[in-house]
Amino acid sequence: MAIAETPGHHSRIVQLSKSPTGIDGFDQVAGGGLPAGRPTLVCGGAGCGKTLFAISFLVHGATRFDEPGVFMSFDESGDELAQNVASLGFDLPGLVEKKKLVLDHVKIERREIEETGDYDLEGLFVRLGYAIDSIGARRVVLDTIESLFAGLANQSILRAELRRLFRWLKDRGVTAMITGERGEGTLTRQGLEEYVSDAVIVLDHRVTEQISTRRLRIVKYRGSAHGTNEYPFLIDEDGLSVLPVTSIGLTHDASSERISTGVARLDMMLGGRGYFRGSTILVSGTAGAGKSSLAAHFLDAACRRGERCLAFVFEESPQQVVRNMRSIGIDLQRWVERGLLEFHAARPSLHGLEMHLSRMHRAIDRFQPSVVVLDPVSSLLRVAQQTDVQATLTPASRTAGPSTSRPTWRSRRSWTPGSC
Ligand SMILES: Nc1ncnc2c1ncn2[C@@H]1O[C@H](COP(=O)(O)OP(=O)(O)OP(=O)(O)O)[C@@H](O)[C@H]1O
Ligand SMILES: [Mg+2]
Repeated sequence: MAIAETPGHHSRIVQLSKSPTGIDGFDQVAGGGLPAGRPTLVCGGAGCGKTLFAISFLVHGATRFDEPGVFMSFDESGDELAQNVASLGFDLPGLVEKKKLVLDHVKIERREIEETGDYDLEGLFVRLGYAIDSIGARRVVLDTIESLFAGLANQSILRAELRRLFRWLKDRGVTAMITGERGEGTLTRQGLEEYVSDAVIVLDHRVTEQISTRRLRIVKYRGSAHGTNEYPFLIDEDGLSVLPVTSIGLTHDASSERISTGVARLDMMLGGRGYFRGSTILVSGTAGAGKSSLAAHFLDAACRRGERCLAFVFEESPQQVVRNMRSIGIDLQRWVERGLLEFHAARPSLHGLEMHLSRMHRAIDRFQPSVVVLDPVSSLLRVAQQTDVQATLTPASRTAGPSTSRPTWRSRRSWTPGSC
């Protein structure tokens, strides 16, 4: 059931069928989603986002893909979980009521296990099987495996039970996600879970120089190609999203249309017609050389044509930019008032690079501008490694299709990719 056949011209390519998570960017990195009908392990340290990742997978399954799900928690109660994810806009009680979701909190009593001396998963299978059947679930989450096996000291029994659990889930044909904590030097505590899982995803939350970054990596994915880099991901009020910055191909269209730079003489120098639409222009120069002014001319010209523009500024407030540009005769305020120009001002150190990038993506997706200005990109270097900044600035939007409205990046300081 998990195998879909895609007949080709000469050969038959058999592709693993995928179960989309609906998590922004993740499905792209994972070639469509998680392996359908198989178990996936999501591991990482405390607070790295395992539970949110898992619940997003279930909520999207229930709301977008018509796949009801069971969340079996050994940590948080159903109420706690519902409260924790309400800030992401997930209405768990509503889904439970509509029979799209079952939240089952299983308390593992350590004492009971120790007293009786035996432990097996039979009871859990019955309970889980019942929950699955009650709503015809296609997705299952077990959060976390450590809590499930807490108190089980006998390593060989534990290993045998782990294997049995994964086997059982596979036999049921549900797409399962099991969360696990990171061990010392191993991906997981027992060092076995990763071998019995068909796919393993590692989440990581690190803080370097006081700036936090979340990363996601697909460690393995049986039977499928996948992005192998570490991808930044983000948790905010819109939920979890992965930024597959490095997986973007160089396949975007190249427009031969030209647009004015806003400076007549510069247009002349550029073949008489200005920049290529959809291209990326780096404006580099020392302090006070006129980089922001050149950007303002460009914005003004675009707004005069009635095109929407977004300006991300990292060192000045929108009011400062408007005031300074007025001194060279450019009135940007009128474009702001007409809704053609939007400023987004944020100090570079406000958040990590992935947060900046994600906010830019969201702003661009929402506003659909034809011109984008970043001033200055070099200030992002203060919050991230150069390689990361380069990947971030790779001039393709995540929603890259055959669209022509590609952002135009501008820089204020001398910064050139590869030579900063
Ligand atoms: N609305 C929100 N906005 C921004 N960040 C949030 C939001 N909700 C949760 N977070 C972040 O997600 C983290 C919790 O994620 P989650 O509970 O999924 O982690 P976990 O890996 O399951 O942790 P644990 O090890 O405790 O089980 C919080 O510590 C917080 O940083
Ligand atoms: Mg958790």
